[in-house]
This record gives sequence, structure tokens and C-alpha cells, in this order.
Amino acid sequence: MVKNLSRNENCCIESDHRISYYQSKGYRVPSRRLILNDKQIRGIRDSGRVNTQVLDYIGERIHVGMSTLEIDQIVHEETIRLGGIPATLGYNGYPRSLCTSLNSQVCHGIPSAKQIIKDGDLINIDVSTNLGGYFSDSARVFQVGIKSASRQELIKISKACLEVGLSSVVPWTSMRTIGRSIYEYAKERGYSIATSIGGHGIGMKFHEEPFVSYDRQGTDMLLVPGMVFTIEPAVNAGGGEVYEDRQNNWTIYTSDGKDSAQWEVTVLVTEKGYEILAY
Ligand code: MF3
Ligand code: CO
Repeated sequence: MVKNLSRNENCCIESDHRISYYQSKGYRVPSRRLILNDKQIRGIRDSGRVNTQVLDYIGERIHVGMSTLEIDQIVHEETIRLGGIPATLGYNGYPRSLCTSLNSQVCHGIPSAKQIIKDGDLINIDVSTNLGGYFSDSARVFQVGIKSASRQELIKISKACLEVGLSSVVPWTSMRTIGRSIYEYAKERGYSIATSIGGHGIGMKFHEEPFVSYDRQGTDMLLVPGMVFTIEPAVNAGGGEVYEDRQNNWTIYTSDGKDSAQWEVTVLVTEKGYEILAY
């Protein structure tokens, strides 16, 4: 036990030195609180496993004719069954156990009994879990029933954007590359990014610093092993402009009414690269 402890201390001192070095070179560095220890990482990994499992479970059950409130009930039950609590429920007054965003809804769609899934609908299922105080968050996009070429293409490109971002998670480099590479990837293919939507630090809280932006600039912060955050670019078929629903003050829509698709992962920065904690 003592041996492990001292080894851990050495590792952190070394990491601290390295952070100070990069700071002196002009990098914006994460605060100490954002660099998580092994115990915290284990907790988030377990939470992420539940989150991924819940997404697998609901992914197999979405069908034409069901309401988004039914999805909410299934996600709620399955999360509880696996020992977790849906992190969105009651979060800043949010009323449901996940977000379901259809077609031109970009994110934060609120499940409702009145919203019935139709053939060919594009749906983002965004699930987040609190397991014993450790948070995880991930989302997938599906087209339900009949497939169309344009929506399948948007699903493919938006997923690829996430993967492009992931491949930019390299320790001791700037987080900027993540945002920039995603932005450029989408743009080159005729899609746009809703740049007002971003990822976030997560783990000990649901939402935490840094705000992970996906624009030309990208978030400028040094990537340090032990950081955990989400990558969740919202990819639009039309323009990148969005607005918030004035009735519920949650749901974001594309301004031009065109489709939007958003995949999300929770990712850990490691010594060698990254580890996906929730997908
Ligand atoms: N996964 C969503 C996000 O990180 C959750 C939003 S909070 C909610 O943007 F209350 F809207 F669910
Ligand atoms: Co998120």
C-alpha cells in the first residue's frame, strides 16, 4: 500500500512539473481539480459502462409509433436496474431521464407522450448516468424505420466528426486541435457545426470546465492525463445557426429547420492517448 502511494505521489509531482513547464510556454493549463486520480477514474469508468449499456438497451428497442416518453421510461428503468440514477433528471429543473432530439432539434429535446416517432425520423438519444456520485454522458443517432440517403449520410459524417475529434486527443498537446479538426472535417464535406454547442468536463460533476468548443479556434487548454471530458459536436445539414425553444427554455433547434445530428462520448486523456469511458 505504502509503495503504491509513494509511486502515485511521484507521478503527480512529475505531472505537476510538466504542467508548470507548459504553462511557462504560454499554454492554458487545467486546474488541479480537473486531473482525476485512479479512484475517481474507476468510478467514472463504472458509470460509463452503465451509460453505454443503457444506450445499447434502448438502441435495440426504438421503433416507429413509440413516443419519446416511452423511451424515457425505458431509460429510467434500465439505469435504475443497473444501480445508477439518470443524471439529467432534476438537473437545473430538467424534467426527464434523457434528451431525445428529433430531426431539426439539435439537442436537449424533452421526451413527451405527444411526440410519436415516425418512419424515417432521425433521433439523437443522449443518456447520462450518475453512479455513486460519478458522472458519464454519451449519445448516439439513429434513423428509425425507412432509411434515406441524406439522413444516413448525416449520421455517417456526424459520427466521423466524433472520431476525428477523438484522434486529436493526444496528451501534452492543446485541446484546440479537437475543435479545429472537427470543424474542418464537417466544413470540407458541406456540413456545418453548431458552434454554440460544446462538450464539457465531466466526472465528479455532470458539467464542469472546460467548455470544449468546435470552431476554427477550438478550446485552448493543455490535454493532461487524468482529464475527463465529453466530445459532442452537433453537425448540421444546413447552417450552423441555432435557437432555443422559447416555451421550454431547453430544446435547441436549427434556425433553417434542416437536420442536425450529435454523437457524444465521455473520454479520458491517458499517458498514451485516450480511453473512451462512455459511448
Ligand atoms: N448530455 C446533455 C449535455 O451535456 C445533457 C444536457 S442537460 C439536460 O448537453 F438537462 F438538458 F439534460
Ligand atoms: Co454532454
